[in-house]
Amino acid sequence: MNKIPRDGRFDQSINVLREGYRFLPARFERLHTDIFQTTLLAEKVICVTGEEGARLFYDKEKFQRKGALPKRIEKSLFGENAIQGMDGNPHQHRKLLFMSLMTTEHLERLSQMTTEQWRKKAGEWAPDEEIVLFEEAKEVLCRAACKWAGIPLEENEVTERAEQLWSMVDAFGAVGPRHWKGRKARAESEKWMEKKILDVREQRLQASEDTALYQMAFHKDTEGNYLDSQIAAVELLNVIRPTVAVAAYVAFGALALHEDQEQEAKVRGADSVYIEMFTQEIRRLFPFVPFLGARVRRGFIWNGFHFKKGRLVLLDIHGTDHDSRLWEHPHEFKPERFRDWKGGLFDLIPQGGGEHYTGHRCPGEWITIEAIKSSMRFLTNELEYDVPSQDLSYSVTRMPSLPKSGVVLTNIRIKP
Ligand code: HEM
Repeated sequence: MNKIPRDGRFDQSINVLREGYRFLPARFERLHTDIFQTTLLAEKVICVTGEEGARLFYDKEKFQRKGALPKRIEKSLFGENAIQGMDGNPHQHRKLLFMSLMTTEHLERLSQMTTEQWRKKAGEWAPDEEIVLFEEAKEVLCRAACKWAGIPLEENEVTERAEQLWSMVDAFGAVGPRHWKGRKARAESEKWMEKKILDVREQRLQASEDTALYQMAFHKDTEGNYLDSQIAAVELLNVIRPTVAVAAYVAFGALALHEDQEQEAKVRGADSVYIEMFTQEIRRLFPFVPFLGARVRRGFIWNGFHFKKGRLVLLDIHGTDHDSRLWEHPHEFKPERFRDWKGGLFDLIPQGGGEHYTGHRCPGEWITIEAIKSSMRFLTNELEYDVPSQDLSYSVTRMPSLPKSGVVLTNIRIKP
């Protein structure tokens, strides 16, 4: 039996907060390994990276999600009793519900609504107004997501709801006030969503059958019962919260356009193939999810290493997306790398790997791609703007990360 290389003698939790996205990759590099063992939150943890690590992590025979999520993540980011912590048949049944919302028609509608909302928003900017793109993107995506999902949204609540939805995401890598803000946002958002679910069930609110609101309200579990209204609310939030979070990718996309004028010219007027490559490179390069966790279902041996039943295993998401064995010059922005990409299940994994239907891979990958594409098209084809001097750097220790200024745009003109 091989001995799993060990990192540090003491609990490393504080270093996760200190080092952020670099925590795992730095240790794989230092130990010259694709697997090591450490201690986090007083628990032994095995960490794996790369394509083979991802393939292992998504083997459902070997891993389960039950008991893998820290309570603090459930109480802020995901919500309790959500799909993220489910396994087996109940998971697959719930996953079908999400996947049924991802048809070509649904995605086209979301893409159109995103563009419409950008146009509406841009029409409201005064000629000399300075805007923070990330802030605008959150509102645009909140409006588009709610409209798409069939959730009524009053004009005067947009800013607050968009902020709440982002706050839940912003809490995931934080301790202290940022984390507590996320928990409060979750409590308020769940209340908001639960009311909508009950309103639809009790016919005080009309929702068309093909909307997420209707589908969550009337979904039946494997025993034929409607979801508890709190759980239905959590799952409806599981659709609109991450759609608002795509605002971070929009800000990173604008940064990529600004930093490379050649790219900007290529994206402007490009066919959908190039915009898709550009979008994939945004998702690969810029930091969002650092790692994911699962527990060993029953003990097994992998490459001579023993994985004990119940052991927590972390998959290095950020590191795999920057693995030089998979990506040439991994820290450079090169959309062209996707021209010959075979679409592997375990290489580009910013939203998880493996299969969408049978595993935990993000069902919102296409929504994410469509929302980024629509936003990049809008920025390049419909607007002209200046990017004044500002701090566009982004941290690799703060999770989630963002361009620090949020990307300020001035002198905005709508192209005729
Ligand atoms: C900023 C964009 C997004 C990022 C970075 C992201 C990332 C992720 C990741 C890393 C996972 C976990 C995969 C795993 O556990 O193995 C996930 C799962 C999930 N995502 Fe996303 N996601 C995004 C957008 C979306 C959107 C737009 C939706 C809307 C439908 C969505 C809904 C979900 C759901 C429901 C799950 C749980 C799937 C399951 O456990 O089977 N996500 N996402």
